Amino acid sequence: MKHIHQTHSHAPLSSEPSVHESSHIVNSYAGAWTSIGPNNKIIESRIGDYTYTMDDVTINYSEVGKFTSIASHVCINPVDHPMNRVTQHHMTYRRAGFGFAETDDDDIFNWRRGNHVTIGHDVWIGHGAIVMKGVTIGTGAVVGSGAVVTKDVEPYTIVVGVPARPIKKRFSQDVIDTLLQIAWWDWPRDLLEARFHEFNDMEAFIKTYG
Ligand SMILES: CC(C)(COP(=O)(O)OP(=O)(O)OC[C@H]1O[C@@H](n2cnc3c(N)ncnc32)[C@H](O)[C@@H]1OP(=O)(O)O)[C@@H](O)C(=O)NCCC(=O)NCCS
Repeated sequence: MKHIHQTHSHAPLSSEPSVHESSHIVNSYAGAWTSIGPNNKIIESRIGDYTYTMDDVTINYSEVGKFTSIASHVCINPVDHPMNRVTQHHMTYRRAGFGFAETDDDDIFNWRRGNHVTIGHDVWIGHGAIVMKGVTIGTGAVVGSGAVVTKDVEPYTIVVGVPARPIKKRFSQDVIDTLLQIAWWDWPRDLLEARFHEFNDMEAFIKTYG
């Protein structure tokens, strides 16, 4: 994992993360072959190898696995404001910027850090979806366009709607269990290259590696 920051970078991708120059990154890490698109905002998050984001993606306080596809206008972990204070306006915690105190209020930021989101490997998050605080999305899951995910999603499950509900699984439970056991996303690069041509034939893949 590399500490990431804005770099001007174009395809082809490489073992270095590619981060579009227009994106705003704070204290985050990304693995090899990752690509962060334009106008992203990524705060205190970790992005696994090969994962990519399209434009206008926001990711706060989250762990994203490998080979995950994040469509444009997705928001992972929109943070809450302190609704129980006299005002929920950010002046009470971003107080230094307003000249009300020397430092900001760490309690609020620690509270947000505690509402971590975890996304597995090979997840596909559709256009404009929102993944709410504290949610875990299992490996291989699909989040439909425009969904608002408020509850955990099982591996290889497709969820849609507001709030998001499961509609089906991508594969039979046997196949899902085998894929989870194969865990191809952890294969080193040389194995991926050698076996790359086998990724389009599920039946043969399961037979060979299951
Ligand atoms: C979730 C998704 C993958 C399902 O695709 P599919 O398996 O072909 O599903 P279908 O089109 O057969 O739809 C199945 C049901 O779910 C509903 N549905 C599908 N996508 C939905 C969505 N995003 N929100 C709400 N309902 C949705 C359909 O209306 C249908 O309902 P019905 O059974 O009552 O008629 C797809 O609809 C989707 O949202 N793809 C994301 C596309 C995207 O955002 N791409 C970004 C570029 S990477």
